[in-house]
Amino acid sequence: MSPEALFAPSDDVVAKTHVNATQYEEKYARSVNDPDGFWGEQAKRIDWIKPFTKVKNTSFKWPDISIKWFEDGELNVTANCIDRHLDTRGDQVAIIFEPDDPKAEARHITYRKLHEEVCRFANVLKGLGVKKGERVTIYMPMIPEAAYAMLACARIGAVHSVVFGGFSPDALAGRVNDCDSRVVLTADEGRRGGKSVPLKANVDKALEDCPGVEKVLVVRNTGGDVAMKGSRDVWWHEAAAGVEAVCEPVAMNAEDPLFILYTSGSTGKPKGVLHTTGGYLVYASLTHELTFDYRDGEVYWCTADVGWVTGHSYIVYGPLANGATTLMFEGVPNYPDAGRFWDVVDKHKVNIFYTAPTAIRALMGAGNQFVERADLSTLRLLGSVGEPINPEAWMWYHKQVGRERCVVIDTWWQTETGGFMITPLPGAIATKPGSATKPFFGVQPVVLEPESGKVIAETEASGVLAIADSWPGQMRTVYGDHQRFKETYFQQYKGFYFSGDGCRRDADGYYWITGRVDDVLNVSGHRLGTAEVESALVAHPKVSEAAVVGFPHDVKGQGIYCYVTLMASETASDDLAVELRNWVRKEIGPIASPDHIQFAPGLPKTRSGKIMRRILRKVAENDYGALGDTSTLADPAVVDDLIANRKNR
Ligand code: PRX
Repeated sequence: MSPEALFAPSDDVVAKTHVNATQYEEKYARSVNDPDGFWGEQAKRIDWIKPFTKVKNTSFKWPDISIKWFEDGELNVTANCIDRHLDTRGDQVAIIFEPDDPKAEARHITYRKLHEEVCRFANVLKGLGVKKGERVTIYMPMIPEAAYAMLACARIGAVHSVVFGGFSPDALAGRVNDCDSRVVLTADEGRRGGKSVPLKANVDKALEDCPGVEKVLVVRNTGGDVAMKGSRDVWWHEAAAGVEAVCEPVAMNAEDPLFILYTSGSTGKPKGVLHTTGGYLVYASLTHELTFDYRDGEVYWCTADVGWVTGHSYIVYGPLANGATTLMFEGVPNYPDAGRFWDVVDKHKVNIFYTAPTAIRALMGAGNQFVERADLSTLRLLGSVGEPINPEAWMWYHKQVGRERCVVIDTWWQTETGGFMITPLPGAIATKPGSATKPFFGVQPVVLEPESGKVIAETEASGVLAIADSWPGQMRTVYGDHQRFKETYFQQYKGFYFSGDGCRRDADGYYWITGRVDDVLNVSGHRLGTAEVESALVAHPKVSEAAVVGFPHDVKGQGIYCYVTLMASETASDDLAVELRNWVRKEIGPIASPDHIQFAPGLPKTRSGKIMRRILRKVAENDYGALGDTSTLADPAVVDDLIANRKNR
């Protein structure tokens, strides 16, 4: 089958959809021609404590970048995600929790119970002196308490920074310090794939370098043994005992911060992407409803972790704002075997399933017997996110999981965008395997010539992907460094938000995302800066220099290939390669584990000392026949050595 094959929405999908093809065209045109009118209307889906009178006040004009939406309105996110549902759906399940251990009991948390838990959690935070605007770091497993913690912060106006539980103590410490958290929320341990994750022990280690942290609130999850330190550490269940389950939501300005989420860029340390309250919630809730075509009463499951933006927008905020039933899964796709996802779909009668291409490819590789043994008849829609989905994986998802009757949607977006940017709407847009298709309402993608930055006017285009105007879910700044925000996203291509991705637009105006064009890797859907891995490597006493590039990997999308030059006194060995791999895991976390470490006596540099990454990429890709011009190298001979000793044959 040609990868360009079209899958048109079925009559049944069109009959029930929120948006059909004609409505998409009309509404899209209005959303870009009259953003004030369009978004002013859409924002009515949210309950405002004080209505806004202004809708859009944004500028992408260098150097005056400023983004404000609904700027004089006031609201509380949890009043929208919880309280307003109590009258109509208090007894409906808000969160289904499926634990890592398939034999352990699932939990069903109703909206009423969620209200109680969040209020109690919020009162405990208040008891610790947490104030509006204060940053609270959350380092938790995928358990409902992670959602309670996020929502409790939002209830009292504290700004949460969730750090993925797979990050190392060092990575955690950097994030805690960057946003000056005084309070950290964690659990004794997490559980993934039958193994425990020592969260509290990691926090203890991290906090050796975090002098500003005064309190650590610890949720008892596995019951594993953990050390509790004097007056600093408090058990959540002890702090919550006897605490009232009523806490009034605080009125927040639409532009007050809601959360910070650290993400990797092409240079320097991870940056704190800051999202605010009003625009983010309008956008997360509208995109969740329309893109998944969510209908009342359906069970919706996004397999991401709350440590990533997908977990923020599409496990917690979007679904709960819409009164949905959202499933939280603590485990991994291949435990106890590669049928776990499908068992959970059947067990909880999941209607909408949203995962990443890396998981799809891994499960595809495990063989069809695992998916074939499942019923899967409740499924109606399948989503994909995080990296380009290759047409083969798309077709497997469509055939084996969707049994050729489910809609498959590939959603392109980023931590920075807050919600979907380019994605099919199920009842409106025919899909093509591997394409994220068309822009969501209000999103104006442009394809630019990489060198000149000129907008390519022709429909068929290939270049870098940028966005011409603001949308409500857009990040507002880099926490503590507005200059970095401006320089990262708006300086290179003036007048546009630059995504960092390359893309192709086909003759039908469909977008095909080709991956990052900067020094950011996408490993199993996780974003990593090559600079981060390099700085971890050079922090090792035996390493003099390091350069890191990505290479195509069948399951992970991209793998991590490291070129390392040792100190003159050191000798390369397999043992040392293992030592360095473990070192990177310790410095950043297991997601940054190098796939290949090649010891190189020298790196290819220009005469001015700049490393020529293009050459390193080609060698890592095993494509060294096309190295291009190497005449500007200071020492062309290093390339022969790189090729002779390459690891990825
Ligand atoms: O390169 C794109 C890729 O993931 C990057 C964003 O990563 P992150 O901020 O961690 O957010 C991931 C979840 C939204 C993008 O710059 N990416 C994300 N979704 C897709 C994608 N690449 C291709 N197709 C997608 N659907």
